[in-house]
Amino acid sequence: MHQVERRGVRLKVLVTYYSETGNTEKIARAIHEEVSKEHEAHLKKIKEVTADALNNYELVFLGSACHSADLAAPAKKILDAVPTSPKFKLAGFFTHATLCSGDSARTQKLFDRWAGKCIVSFEKVSMEKRIDFKGYYHCQGVPSLPIQEFIKKEIIESADEWKGYIKEVRKHPSSEDVQKAKSFAREVLSKS
Ligand SMILES: Cc1cc2nc3c(=O)[nH]c(=O)nc-3n(C[C@H](O)[C@H](O)[C@H](O)COP(=O)(O)O)c2cc1C
Repeated sequence: MHQVERRGVRLKVLVTYYSETGNTEKIARAIHEEVSKEHEAHLKKIKEVTADALNNYELVFLGSACHSADLAAPAKKILDAVPTSPKFKLAGFFTHATLCSGDSARTQKLFDRWAGKCIVSFEKVSMEKRIDFKGYYHCQGVPSLPIQEFIKKEIIESADEWKGYIKEVRKHPSSEDVQKAKSFAREVLSKS
């Protein structure tokens, strides 16, 4: 039997997210659906919550689209406003256009360059504010057309690379990404 069930602990959990084109929202909904099975789960856009209100929850999943290689400004803003040693535990998630599957050195370098700060930001704020951080989940999310243009012009090195990239990124967040987000949620709950 699941550890949380055995202890009969029903946590008050918030899933909050910043999403412009729906990718991060899709992951937020999946996490919320999973958490709702055994806990009191609330789903809110970041603009609907304040840093102080996060303390009304025992666990907060905070998600963001990746913008300019980091968490988007509204996500950073709320994390920056969290008081030190808050009551809630934190888990992070983000979606990004950068490829993250495969183990080529170039893929790794691109991920670090174009999305790595999202991880750094979650970890840094958690350390600085003594937040009990339970880890993060991330996956690709198909970018909007202007961002596709940027990637094609500034990052992609050949027509073949573009063909492979765009074919892959259009599939995300995939049903596999959603399942992985749900297992991430279960893992976080088991540690909370
Ligand atoms: C203004 C802007 C900047 C972006 N910058 C990055 C970036 O630096 N790195 C990256 O991997 N993706 C970047 N993206 C792509 C998004 O992170 C990605 O498509 C994400 O899934 C969008 O999430 P959303 O649909 O929840 O808004 C950017 C998108 C926008 C709109």
